[in-house]
Amino acid sequence: MLIRPRRLRFNQHVRDMAREVRLSTKSLILPVFIMEGKNTKLPINSLEGHFYYSPDTVFEAVDSALKYGVNKILLFGVPEEKDEIGSQSFDEDGVIQKAVRAIKERYREEVFVITDVCMCEYTSHGHCGILDDEYVDNDRTLEYLSKIALSHAVAGADMVAPSDMMDGRVAAIRKTLDEHNFINTLIMSYAVKYSSAFYGPFREAAKSAPSFGNRKSYQMDYHNRKEAVKEALMDINEGADILMVKPALAYLDVISEVSKHSNLPTAAYSVSGEYAMIKAAAKMNLIDEYGVMCESAVSVFRAGADILISYYAKEIAQAINKGDIG
Ligand code: PBG
Repeated sequence: MLIRPRRLRFNQHVRDMAREVRLSTKSLILPVFIMEGKNTKLPINSLEGHFYYSPDTVFEAVDSALKYGVNKILLFGVPEEKDEIGSQSFDEDGVIQKAVRAIKERYREEVFVITDVCMCEYTSHGHCGILDDEYVDNDRTLEYLSKIALSHAVAGADMVAPSDMMDGRVAAIRKTLDEHNFINTLIMSYAVKYSSAFYGPFREAAKSAPSFGNRKSYQMDYHNRKEAVKEALMDINEGADILMVKPALAYLDVISEVSKHSNLPTAAYSVSGEYAMIKAAAKMNLIDEYGVMCESAVSVFRAGADILISYYAKEIAQAINKGDIG
């Protein structure tokens, strides 16, 4: 036999050497939830192992991430007060603005701070924009998203990540940031975000489920792949710096498609439902949590992602540091 594929699997040295995909802790982003209050750290029931931090305790989350080599965090806010227009989302003393200032003051350039730009956690109706009757008004929402993004940049965010799925929001945000001289604040666009049942634990955690209807008139229909390329190309033209696909595991084909069609870095968001499924199945002794976590993380990079946002970011970093993956 001339060709024996098993030679490349003969021992660990060969397998390590011949790996096609390499992972780095530098490509990982950890989501962190911020709540109002002082000296508070409360467990998030729907996301085991994760906590709500007040702006003055969030250092604990950051220190712990840094210990594993994870120095990029994505912040989500859980405000105390909600209203029709999500006023707390762009308030300079909103929970995210306070947290960003606190983190940047303490860590400066040591930590890369990313903020979720959306309204659903802040609106009384739980939709991702301004309502016109029961329809989310796209163009009016753009003004608000731009205000939110600007308030995050003013507080010190390194990158803003709009997750609302309004048309034209990347261009609107870029214009506003540039007009205020935040030319180096990056935009990671949730360019390809599907209307997904995988967001359940997050909505529970962020108290952001819509009070009526669903998000199908703005988030994408999961039957569509070509539409993913359309959304990606639009956001490239609008000035996005990084494109994101979300969720990850059930959308590896989409990650692959988007990364092939774009010349920007592709991020994938392994969402709350993916994390919860692994946790729950492991608890029932049906799967090995560590093994499934490692395999899922690698699959996302193999599909073409350059960046991974995951609730397992610290554990994945540990697996990389141990040499089990990457
Ligand atoms: C806000 C937002 C959501 C997620 C990230 N940003 C929820 C949603 O769109 O309903 C989901 C993240 C996760 O499930 O981990 N729009």
